[in-house]
Amino acid sequence: MNTSILAIESSCDETSAAVIRNGEVLSNFIANQKVHEQYGGVVPELASRAHQQNIIPVVEAALKKSGITKEELNAIAFTQSPGLIGSLLVGCCFAKSLALGLNVPLIAVHHMQAHVLANFIGSPKPVFPFLCLTVSGGHTQIVLVEDYLKMKVIGETLDDAAGEAFDKTAKILGLPYPGGPLIDKYAKEGDPRRFSFPEPRIPGLNFSFSGLKTAILYFVQDQTERDPDFIQNNMADICASVQHRIITILMNKLVKAAKETGIKEVCIAGGVSANSGLRKAIADYSRKYGWNYYIPEFQYCTDNAGMISMTAYYKYLAGEFADLTVSPSARSSMERD
Ligand code: KG4
Ligand code: ZN
Repeated sequence: MNTSILAIESSCDETSAAVIRNGEVLSNFIANQKVHEQYGGVVPELASRAHQQNIIPVVEAALKKSGITKEELNAIAFTQSPGLIGSLLVGCCFAKSLALGLNVPLIAVHHMQAHVLANFIGSPKPVFPFLCLTVSGGHTQIVLVEDYLKMKVIGETLDDAAGEAFDKTAKILGLPYPGGPLIDKYAKEGDPRRFSFPEPRIPGLNFSFSGLKTAILYFVQDQTERDPDFIQNNMADICASVQHRIITILMNKLVKAAKETGIKEVCIAGGVSANSGLRKAIADYSRKYGWNYYIPEFQYCTDNAGMISMTAYYKYLAGEFADLTVSPSARSSMERD
């Protein structure tokens, strides 16, 4: 018998819907919200309103592309947390109504767990146990993954996330939000060793990016005082140097985690895993340390419902359903006690 699930992702500023059948993602439709660009960051209330406008056309587009009708769906899934509460509420209420109307089960999915499981869309697939470096706009984690639904965060950021370090650097350089992809673009033309930024000394497997952000700010202010055109004339080298430092901070902790756990299967996930420098670094380090590495396809790195649908599929097989009174935002097993 076929298992078909519709999944919705609405945790931040992307409205996305996907359909999965028997573990194969058939469609993954994403509507980006342009409204935030002029504010230099996501405005929560505007995000909720845009989700409300987008959700029906996005779901219809995902269903149409998949060739699956509403009546064929076996479950409806949604992102439960973490995320912006108003944004999560839109996806959660929509999913509840549809599940009620179709009389099928509801599945609540943890956003960070879904980023990890994006590595199971396509092949080759990672082998358990593996380590996942999950790097997004709100989180930076090293996750020990024992099974599809059994994961433990063994390291995380104490302050800013890696994605935030990219976005805040972009802001300092006068680039629009979200800055990560632009820094990536400029970095390709620059010299990563031209400017040196500090690596924080944080014990264990945890990360910190707020000191780096301050160092970049002071460096740019200082240089601009001497030469008002400093940013303009050195954009590629600044971006390459910052990106290089963020990547070495991430990779050094991953090396430490791999040594401590003895695990040689490694994945990356989350919005920052779209970064070309990080994608190259995981390949280079894997060669050096004898790891097998996995990277999600580009469209499954940044927020997308495909990864929600993949997690929902495994939750469906495990019989992990939510009831209709479930909260759009709840603490779950991915978070530390
Ligand atoms: O996973 P995601 O889409 O949303 C969250 O769950 O936060 O991650 C968004 C983050 C943003 O900080 C964005 O700048 C960053 O991912 N990002 C990138 C790239 N593409 C997206 N950072 C560096 N290089 C990229 N190519
Ligand atoms: Zn995300």
